[in-house]
Amino acid sequence: MTLEDESDVAVSEAQIAVHWREEELYFPPAAFVGQANASDPAIFERFKEENFPECYREYADLLTWDQYWHTTLDTSNAPFWKWFVGGKLNVSYNCVDRHLATQRNKAALIWVPEPEEEQTQAITYQELYRRVNEFAALLRDFGGVQTGDRVTFHLPMVPELPVSMLACARLGVIHSQVFGGFSGSACGGRIADSQSRILVTMDGYYRNGELIDHKAKADEAVARAREEGVEVERVLVWRRHPGQYASESPMVEGRDFFVDELLAEYRDQIVEPVSMPAEAPLFLMYTSGTTGKPKGAQHSTGGYLAYVAGTSKYYQDIHPDDTYWCFADIGWITGHSYIVYGPLALGTTSVMYEGVPTYPDPGRPWRIAERLGVNIFHTAPTTIRMLRKVGPDEPNKYNYHFKHMTTVGEPIEPEVWRWYRDVVGKGEAVIVDTWWQTENGGFLGSTLPALQPMKPGSCGPGVLGVFPVIYDEHGEEVSAGSGRAGNICIRNPWPGIFQTIWGQPERFLDIYYRKYCRDEKSTDWHDWPYFAGDGAMQAADGYFRILGRVDDVINVAGHRLGTKELESAALTVDKVAEAAAVPVMDDLRGRAVEMYVSLKPGYEAGTDIEHEVALAIENEIGKIARPKNVWVVPDMPKTRSGKIMRRVTAGISNFTDVGDVTTLANPEIVEKIRIQVHAAKMASGQLPRELTAAELEEIKGFGHAD
Ligand code: WT7
Repeated sequence: MTLEDESDVAVSEAQIAVHWREEELYFPPAAFVGQANASDPAIFERFKEENFPECYREYADLLTWDQYWHTTLDTSNAPFWKWFVGGKLNVSYNCVDRHLATQRNKAALIWVPEPEEEQTQAITYQELYRRVNEFAALLRDFGGVQTGDRVTFHLPMVPELPVSMLACARLGVIHSQVFGGFSGSACGGRIADSQSRILVTMDGYYRNGELIDHKAKADEAVARAREEGVEVERVLVWRRHPGQYASESPMVEGRDFFVDELLAEYRDQIVEPVSMPAEAPLFLMYTSGTTGKPKGAQHSTGGYLAYVAGTSKYYQDIHPDDTYWCFADIGWITGHSYIVYGPLALGTTSVMYEGVPTYPDPGRPWRIAERLGVNIFHTAPTTIRMLRKVGPDEPNKYNYHFKHMTTVGEPIEPEVWRWYRDVVGKGEAVIVDTWWQTENGGFLGSTLPALQPMKPGSCGPGVLGVFPVIYDEHGEEVSAGSGRAGNICIRNPWPGIFQTIWGQPERFLDIYYRKYCRDEKSTDWHDWPYFAGDGAMQAADGYFRILGRVDDVINVAGHRLGTKELESAALTVDKVAEAAAVPVMDDLRGRAVEMYVSLKPGYEAGTDIEHEVALAIENEIGKIARPKNVWVVPDMPKTRSGKIMRRVTAGISNFTDVGDVTTLANPEIVEKIRIQVHAAKMASGQLPRELTAAELEEIKGFGHAD
């Protein structure tokens, strides 16, 4: 496509269906069906709408309750739903202690270090029990934490992370794990928001062959939290190699302590699990949204654990003797729900890997699967795309067999799905495409693997007990098979739903419930559809195809980045006057970030400023947010009221039509920016590719909130 023959195609929602070929259905292999946890269609009866909310007793009964609950769902303070009210339980007891009687010597976790010459560590339920108790005793007696306090973790993919999570859960302390790849500053902002007095971190970890200095980030985090008025009293530092310190950053006297040294004091200590009300918060998980700072999604104890246990059993098809590997980072909700809490509640063996998929070569994941006998594999499209690109035939070289595979986090292209099935799964595995969000605790849309066929590119219908609907902007239902897209919502509450945004109940109402609420005084859940913030279409067979975010969030490799956060980071560079972040299609990561900045008077464009902006974003958020390009432009395209038109810059970045710009305050700038950006892209080999109808729609609608 050259710049000249780019035609003015405006694709309407109705046209999308015409562009989309309906994919054919794939049926699960008989061997899978024969052993599946859910293979009797009677389960659909039990979870049909008439049986809501009582159907979820089945999930709650997977847990051990200290005190059984009396009310399944309390809607009296809608939409702050309360599940399993009156019940009491402890999450650490459910994930560890209760398995000791029958399987103390089974591996709870198998940890695979990145350096291949380092041995894997199998941590039995017995050992996990000891480690969790000892660290819980340390947190309580040395850290001085009490039930209800918050503790922030900034940990990489090491077994100390689930140990720390379960230790907090044992004490009824709320943990908040910040993805290890995020910057110290991003961690500090989350410490301040949650008002944590303790930070748990690690000296270093391996990534792509390098032992990364991680403790340095703790110093930045403490400084940033202090700027925001919160003083971190103790920094507890696990060491990647106990006894040897891998960081250049000095230990601060009286503040920083090595956990391996302190633990000697707590050998053999047992901490009674604190019996927590079902609706007590278990953890916070920060995520990005349309406006302002990241928000802390607050997850519950009983509802959350019941939901992740139930979905792990039926959708992940986890049996106690499976070897289950979810190749995600525990720093994201996927890891909390489907590496730690769901699998351990079911007493299975959960594999954790420290490093990157392609280290030291793209055969690594398949060697791990072969060595450990992994039979359930779970990962994201971005990882699948990368492995397909760099090692398309690698899986054939290894002798492993998956019965089940999952994809999560972004839409998966049907060709990539087929490679996943045919090559990674060797045609033997069933696949579930699971659609959900940080706020949801567990899956919302997927197929029950033995009972519902797969359709590449579609997640499937709502999961058991979850009833999605698509609404248009006016709240009218968009019917299945209409070929029209709209906003996917969930009509009913479910046990895994987050309880609120930490400290910001109004924002919770505004973002997720106000849009389609029928009556704000109502205590009937039917009046409170949950607005997910995703565009979707429903085929005639009831399967949903998720199109992506409808808010100003850019999904990079399955991670949500808010445009506001990216722009505020760019604006920390003194010379920058204005900034606009837009998504650009990326063959591996799904989307990448491009930044447009204009400068304050007196400054000249140049590569130094581009670097400064990229570095500022890395420092404020993390490497994951590093922009693909920074464009220093003479001015931003703006409306007459002065708002930056992100859809115009997004169109330029993606070589698509920018639409009608005649009503802008400065229409002439559009052509200037277009020539500048396109010339630079062509010169550096970033050539345009044709966009799918859904991608076009996303770009055309980007920044519609402006
Ligand atoms: C957003 C949520 C849920 C854990 C990982 C991401 C997109 C998620 C799918 C899927 C298409 C998906 C949505 C959603 N998304 N799963 N299977 N197919 N899109 O959690 O960071 O909160 O992101 O990821 O846009 O809203 P998250």
